[in-house]
Amino acid sequence: MRKLLTALLALGLLATQHVAARRDAAPRDAAAVERRVEEILGRLTLEEKIDLIGGVDDFFVRGVERVGLPRLKMADGPAGVRNFGPATTMPAAVAMAATWDTELVGRVATEIARDARAKGVHFLLGPGVNIYRAPMNGRNFEYFGEDPFLVSRMAVAYVRGVQSQNVAATVKHYAANNSEFDRHNTDSVVDERTLREIYLPAFEAAVREADVAAVMDSYNLVNGVHASQHGRLNNEVAKREWGFGGIIMSDWNGTYDAVGAANGGLDLEMPSGKFMNRANLVPAVESGKVSRETIDDKVRRILRTAVRFGWLDREQTDPSIPRLNQQGRRVALEAARASVVLLKNDGGVLPLDRAKIKSVAVIGPVAYPAVPMGGGSGRVEPFAAVSILEGLSNALGTSVPVHYARGLPTLGEMAEATEFTTTATGGEAGVSAEYFANPDLRGEPAVARVEPRINFSRLARPFPQQSLSSRWTGYFDARAAGRYEVFAASTGEDAGFFRLRVDDRLVFDNWSESRALVQLATLDLAPGAHKIVLEQRGKHGRLGTRMQLGILRRGEMVSAEAKALAARSDVVVVAAGFDHTVESEGADRTFRLPVGQDELIGEVAAANRNAVVVVTSGGGYDTSEWLARAPALVQAWYPGQEGGTALAEILLGDVNPSGRLPVTFERRWEDNPAHPSYYPEPGTNRVVYREGVFVGYRGYERSNTRPLFAFGHGLSYATFRYGNLSIRPAANAAAPSPRRPLYEVSFDVTNAGARAGAEVAQVYVGDNHSPVPRPVKELKGFAKVFLRPGETRRVTVALDARSFSFYDAEAGRWRAVPGEFDIYVARSSAQVELRGKLRLTRSDVPAG
Ligand code: BGC
Repeated sequence: MRKLLTALLALGLLATQHVAARRDAAPRDAAAVERRVEEILGRLTLEEKIDLIGGVDDFFVRGVERVGLPRLKMADGPAGVRNFGPATTMPAAVAMAATWDTELVGRVATEIARDARAKGVHFLLGPGVNIYRAPMNGRNFEYFGEDPFLVSRMAVAYVRGVQSQNVAATVKHYAANNSEFDRHNTDSVVDERTLREIYLPAFEAAVREADVAAVMDSYNLVNGVHASQHGRLNNEVAKREWGFGGIIMSDWNGTYDAVGAANGGLDLEMPSGKFMNRANLVPAVESGKVSRETIDDKVRRILRTAVRFGWLDREQTDPSIPRLNQQGRRVALEAARASVVLLKNDGGVLPLDRAKIKSVAVIGPVAYPAVPMGGGSGRVEPFAAVSILEGLSNALGTSVPVHYARGLPTLGEMAEATEFTTTATGGEAGVSAEYFANPDLRGEPAVARVEPRINFSRLARPFPQQSLSSRWTGYFDARAAGRYEVFAASTGEDAGFFRLRVDDRLVFDNWSESRALVQLATLDLAPGAHKIVLEQRGKHGRLGTRMQLGILRRGEMVSAEAKALAARSDVVVVAAGFDHTVESEGADRTFRLPVGQDELIGEVAAANRNAVVVVTSGGGYDTSEWLARAPALVQAWYPGQEGGTALAEILLGDVNPSGRLPVTFERRWEDNPAHPSYYPEPGTNRVVYREGVFVGYRGYERSNTRPLFAFGHGLSYATFRYGNLSIRPAANAAAPSPRRPLYEVSFDVTNAGARAGAEVAQVYVGDNHSPVPRPVKELKGFAKVFLRPGETRRVTVALDARSFSFYDAEAGRWRAVPGEFDIYVARSSAQVELRGKLRLTRSDVPAG
């Protein structure tokens, strides 16, 4: 009996670990939901309805007590519940995608939603599903990578996880929001086929497959129209074509016109009804510019969502969920382990052998403190986070000493150490600063003074409040000829506009677009004084919250302590990469690693043959200066609060790396298919997506350009073999649904290595006979397979009509052309293991 009880208890404990859908859901009966919605709608006045479609207090929708509608609370995702205090910080979305594990991502999302329930949050503002087009986008870490199929699978898993807890997921940012520079004004010019094949599928999947509750429109314009009033995308595509019955909300301050937005499909303006308010909409309704039905439809969508998730029938706050969520913490660790990608491992330097190493050094700006997340609204504050240094030190305990050096000064220290004089010769120490009360440096400055250096941050140095633009002029004395690194750090949008001239040559031009939060350039300077002119413009109050300028001589940046430590240690882990002050929403980042890091990695790798480079970033970066010298490279992404523990386990071989790249890493930025058209056409706001559907690996394969690391790439400590490919019609192919499986691709995967591990088998489809140019191959299925040493498993991946189709823009529909298709079973887009063919017949697909 006791045994039975113990067993039951164990089962009970297990059950709580894997949280299934909650039981506090509201009626499933659609007709009953609609009746209730109509009943409430009928009791609301026009004014009350209009009040409902504009947010309040930054993150709320007003409640109407009289009809039982509570005030609805929102909080940012996607890697945790950002607002209302600390929360479990999961790995960033790009890291979630790197797991290629939809089941795990579903559990991550479930835990995020449990944190939301603990905080009484109704709407989680995630997932972000914008496509990775270029490594510089400051928000890449918030998204799921470059491939629409992978992004869609992640989006569906995430939305289902969140909504299983009766929290509304919000898929964002709709649409074609693929950069952060000047994000309110850029116009993404994208042809219809490219929109449908690359930029919309994840939204479509979130709506059609996962029944997502809300969609957030993006800031940018799409083909000339702001997303928040884009009738075609909102009304025709999302609502009519995909049957979206939920809420389309604006991004924060991303609404531009009351009538335009009301008629253009926006249901909820956030964070306030700046446009969609009584003053604008009551007269618009009375004059017939906006119909009553249009307003009712928006309110219905809000009410429907509230009924659907049970918000009218119970408190959203679930007091049974601890705010410091241990279950979430476990999932965060599991996800971090699964997301790390081993990019390079020459000579088997990894895993480190505990028995052989006598000393480890952890060097670099990302070693400590932990860098769990990038910056902006996607940043989450964890209760506690494990840094790479702590992770390794915890894992090795007292057996092996783990030494630490930062290796580089902070940006603030670099700016503080950069000295100027007011004139080329004989001037005083410092820079001449001029502050103007207008945004374009016009006329006499309101304040003029000499300042010691250019190093403003929120706390460091006061900034004249009335200022809208400013200029600093000074002379930098290059004591010796050589290469110098110059950086300028700003706050991004609102105050991120600056330009720098060195000896009258324009070095940084961030004047109309904030190209990088922290700009970086290498200059060859002759000895002597060099004229520096830095100009900045921005909003009241925001200007001066951060403006730092530093100039540093190459060869002098890395600390002597770090170099000595690298030379005397058995192994060095270089913790490099970006952080929330360099890679963030509101601005882009550089392709190069932050200032000094190329030199740091180069110096460490020169001093120690066993240099393992671990990079924290949302995507690709320039490795050209040091990769040949570093035997191992590990991609950490932003690994969340448990990242340090997971990385240590991987470096030490306790966990076998199983992450795979959800993006292509380019050798040079110039190689990226979006390179020629990532920035607006000169003198315009138009960003023309010239590469069309050939984004990421689709583009590299088309132009025969070898990337540095291919999409899908990732090494393991095990070795996997593939065999026995078979392609046959799907067993249940009779069911008439557009997503019904047509073919099944089956093959064996064997772990031929000595360690247990997981392989990500990828299935790509190629079409050589369609009337439009198509990529060599496109991802259409994948499976993450866990295998013990020697174990073989048969994997089956289903292909449906979409797997073979392109979007026929003229006909306005998806179309698969009967004929022969290539099937590739691959370890990455560049490493095909098995090849086959299938012949699609006319009876397989609808006539066309
Ligand atoms: C971001 C959104 C976010 C919102 C609320 C905006 O700046 O673009 O993704 O959900 O702020 O924080």
